[in-house]
Amino acid sequence: MLRNSRDSFGLISILFHWIIALIFIGQIPLGYWMVRTSDFALQFSLYQWHKSFGFLVLGLSALRLVWKFANTRPADPSAMATWERIGSHVAHVLLYLSLFAIPLTGWAIASSSPLQIPSFMFNFVVIPPLPLTISDSAEAFWTASHAWLAYVSAVVAACHILAALHHHFWKRDSILTRMLDPRRKAPERAPTQDVIP
Ligand code: HEM
Ligand code: HEM
Repeated sequence: MLRNSRDSFGLISILFHWIIALIFIGQIPLGYWMVRTSDFALQFSLYQWHKSFGFLVLGLSALRLVWKFANTRPADPSAMATWERIGSHVAHVLLYLSLFAIPLTGWAIASSSPLQIPSFMFNFVVIPPLPLTISDSAEAFWTASHAWLAYVSAVVAACHILAALHHHFWKRDSILTRMLDPRRKAPERAPTQDVIP
């Protein structure tokens, strides 16, 4: 139940997926709102929350990647067309890359800003700056990279979510439920001898 099998995602992979997905999805409207609010006290506080949750995504994603390589991956349903398999795997790779590139470019903004505002993770752990050039133009570069990556990855995540809903409601297979329930079996598993009358 804890580890993945050839049939299903285990509990640890499922928890990693949903905790990271929820924080990641929340970070996009939070980031959008915090840069546009004109209430400066609120803005400062939102920046600290945004940075803290971003560092949490980075740390959890590093642990998730280690867990992924220590586990097998459940097999794709044999009914899936080749283009569907390639499309889903490309989306997963892009999402994994986003989970690292977006927090790292965010960390680069804080590190290159001439304001040098210290980064705390939930007011608890001090995160040191990355060794980067400190200048207005470096900060502008990392800000633009961070925003672009965040909004492009939101589009990839939206396609990923629509694909999962398509499997569940249209194809009616268990692609979505095996990411929810570690006891779920493979989508197209053949009936075993003992259930055939
Ligand atoms: C899952 C991780 C993250 C996501 C999805 C995310 C997303 C976003 C988004 C959508 C914006 C608004 C961009 C705009 O409209 O201009 C933003 C801004 C920002 N983010 Fe993140 N972010 C993440 C992690 C981080 C981290 C770890 C840091 C810093 C340690 C960070 C620092 C910033 C800063 C400083 C801005 C404001 C840039 C500006 O002044 O315009 N972010 N982020
Ligand atoms: C409501 C939102 C979401 C739903 C319904 C959803 C659904 C799923 C499902 C069903 C799978 C398993 C696919 C398979 O068996 O081949 C999966 C895998 C995955 N999802 Fe999501 N997802 C959501 C949000 C996200 C977000 C926001 C991210 C990242 C930013 C993400 C990243 C991934 C990755 C990287 C995998 C591949 C896992 C692996 O094979 O190691 N998901 N998702």
